Amino acid sequence: MNQGQMHFRTHRVEQTSQVEAGTRVTLSGWVARRRDLGGIVFIDLRDRSGTVQLVFDPAKGTPSEVMAQSETLRNEYVLTVAGAVVRRDPQSVNPKLATGEIEVRVDELEILNVAKNPPFYIQDGIDVDESVRLRYRYLDLRRPQMQQMLMLRHRVVRSLRNFLDEQDFIEIETPMLTRSTPEGARDYLVPSRTQAGAFYALPQSPQLFKQLLMVSGMERYYQFARCFRDEDLRADRQPEFTQLDIEQSFLSLPDFHAMMEQMMAKTFAEVLGVKLPQPFLRLTYEQAMHHYGSDKPDLRFGMELQDLGAVVAEMQTNFRVFQEALSKGGVIKGLVVAGGASWSRRQTDDLVSFVKSYGLQGLATVAILDSGIKSSIGKFFSETQLAHLAAAAGAGQRDLLLIGAGATHTVLPALGALRNRLGRDLGLIDENEFRIVWVTDFPLLAYDEEQGRFVAEHHPFTMPKWEDLDRLESDPGSVRAQAYDLVLNGYELGGGSMRIYQRDIQERMFQALGFSTVEAYRQFGFLMDAFEYGTPPHGGIAFGLDRLVMLMGGGKSLRDCIAFPKTSGGTDLLTNAPATVSLEQLHVLHLQVDDVKAQAEGKGPDVTLAATPQG
Ligand code: AMO
Repeated sequence: MNQGQMHFRTHRVEQTSQVEAGTRVTLSGWVARRRDLGGIVFIDLRDRSGTVQLVFDPAKGTPSEVMAQSETLRNEYVLTVAGAVVRRDPQSVNPKLATGEIEVRVDELEILNVAKNPPFYIQDGIDVDESVRLRYRYLDLRRPQMQQMLMLRHRVVRSLRNFLDEQDFIEIETPMLTRSTPEGARDYLVPSRTQAGAFYALPQSPQLFKQLLMVSGMERYYQFARCFRDEDLRADRQPEFTQLDIEQSFLSLPDFHAMMEQMMAKTFAEVLGVKLPQPFLRLTYEQAMHHYGSDKPDLRFGMELQDLGAVVAEMQTNFRVFQEALSKGGVIKGLVVAGGASWSRRQTDDLVSFVKSYGLQGLATVAILDSGIKSSIGKFFSETQLAHLAAAAGAGQRDLLLIGAGATHTVLPALGALRNRLGRDLGLIDENEFRIVWVTDFPLLAYDEEQGRFVAEHHPFTMPKWEDLDRLESDPGSVRAQAYDLVLNGYELGGGSMRIYQRDIQERMFQALGFSTVEAYRQFGFLMDAFEYGTPPHGGIAFGLDRLVMLMGGGKSLRDCIAFPKTSGGTDLLTNAPATVSLEQLHVLHLQVDDVKAQAEGKGPDVTLAATPQG
C-alpha cells in the first residue's frame, strides 16, 4: 500500500457508462467480486453508485507490477484504480448491470486498505440471520439494497422539506431532554446529576412544544423530530423513530388536509414517479370499523365486512350466539371468501382458531356448494334461511360465508384481522399499489378497563367535535374528536388533530380523563397558563417517516429503512446498548441498582432511587 500516490476519483462508478469509449477514469471503491481466469483478473468494483467491471490483463496494457498486485486482492479491499473505459464484446455485455456494456482496463492500482473476510456476502438477496446483519450493520449497509433504501429516505425527506419550505413553514428544534407526562406510552427517563431524584424524559413527540410555538406566533412549524417510546415493539414500531411533525395556526381543516394531500402526492411523484389520485379517499372511523374491521383499513383489496344483523333479526332465530349479539346491541358480520366453498374442515378450523386469538368465540360457516349448502349452523337454520343469509352477504355459488357475532368491539377487530389475513393468503393484494385514505372523526376517549377510567384515543390536547362537546361530562364515550389519521396500505402513516386552545375546555378534558384539578395543573399547568395569553386556533399532524419510507421502498420492517435500528427486544446489537454502567456513574446520578449481581453480570440495571425525590 503506497497511499496518497493517486487522486481518489474522477468519476463515480455509474458514470463510467456515460463516458465516451477510450476515456481515462480514476475510480475508488470496494472489491465486490474477484475472478481469476489464469493470467486475467476481473474485479467488480463497488461504490455507492453501483458496480463496474475492472479488467487486469497484461495483453491489454496492465503493467506486470499491477498484475502482481491484482493477484492479492480479496473481497472488500478498498482500491483506487485508473484505466481506460472500453466497450465490452457483444457476447460479454451484462444487461443486468447499469455499466454492463463497458469495462475498465486497469493500468494503475493502489490498494488503500485491506479487509478481513466479511461474515456474509455483501450482496442483495442474502439469506443471513438478521442478528448477524445488525451486529455487522456497517457491512450490511454496504449492500446495494440497503444503500438504496437510505438514499430513498434522503430523497423523501428532501422532497417533504422543499414542499413545506415553499408553503412558508419553518423548521424549529424542540428539546430532547424534557419532562415526563403521564399519558401515552412509557417514557425513556434520563436521571439528573444536579437534581438528585429528578428525571428528564426523552420526548414521545414534540406535541406540547409545537403547540407552545403556535402560542408564540410561529404560525407554521415543522420538524423532522426524533421520538422515543418505551412500548412493545413490532415490525412497524421502533423505540426511537422519526416523525415529520407539523403544526399550523389559523387553519381550516379542509384546507389543511388538502395541503397535506398535495405534499404526499408531490413526494410520491418526485421520488417514485407514482401518481396518488387527489382528493384522497375519506372514511369516518365508524365507516372504517364497520366496513373493514379496522381504523387503518388496507384498501388494496375489497372483501368488506357485510352487516347481517337486520337479516338475522327478521329470521327470529333461536341460535343463542346470534340472539345474544342482537339483544345486547352487538353485531353480526359476514366475510365472503370467493371460491372458498370447497375449503376443508381443517382450513376453516384454522380460521376459527385465528379469530379466537382475537377474542371472538368462533365463526359460523356457510358454504354454497354446487350440491347444496353446507353450514356449521345448519342445525339452527333452514336451507332457505341460509341461502337468504348468503344472498344478503353477497355470497354466490362456490363461495364461503364466514360469520362472526358478538360485542361490536370484539367482532369488528377480529374480522378485520381475518380480512387482512385472507387478503394476504389469497393473494388479493397488489404489492405495487398505494391506497391512501383519511380516517376521520375518531372517538375522543376510550374506556380503559385496567385503569378504570377514560383515556385519550389520540392525546389529551385534541379538540372534541363542537357538536359533541356538551356530552363531555354526561356521556364521554360518545364524544367524537376533531382527529384524523392518514392510512396507507393498512398502516397508520400519520395522525393529528385540531387542538384545544381554550383553558376551560382543556380543564374539562383533564377532568374527563380523571385528573384532579391539582394534578392537571401540576402536570400541564405551563400549557394551561399559556392558553390564557392569546392562543390562536391551531392543529396539525405527525407522519411516521420510517413507516413512509418503508412503504415507499417496499420494505417489510422499519429496520430496513433505519441505518442503525434496534431489535424487537430493544437492543442495538452493534454497540450492545443498553448496557450496564459503572457504580461510579450510578453514584453521581444518585442511583442505585436493586440487583447488584445482575449489574455485575451485565444483565442490565433495575434502577431505583437512592435519593429522596425533590419537588
Ligand atoms: P402519533 O402518536 O399518532 O401522534 O404518532 C404519529 C405517527 O408516528 C408514527 N409512529 C411510530 N413510528 C415508528 N415507531 C413507533 N413506535 C411509532 N409510534 C408512532 C406513526 C404515527 O401515525 N403528537 C401526535 C401527532 C399530532 O397530533 O400532531 C403524535 O405523536 O406513523
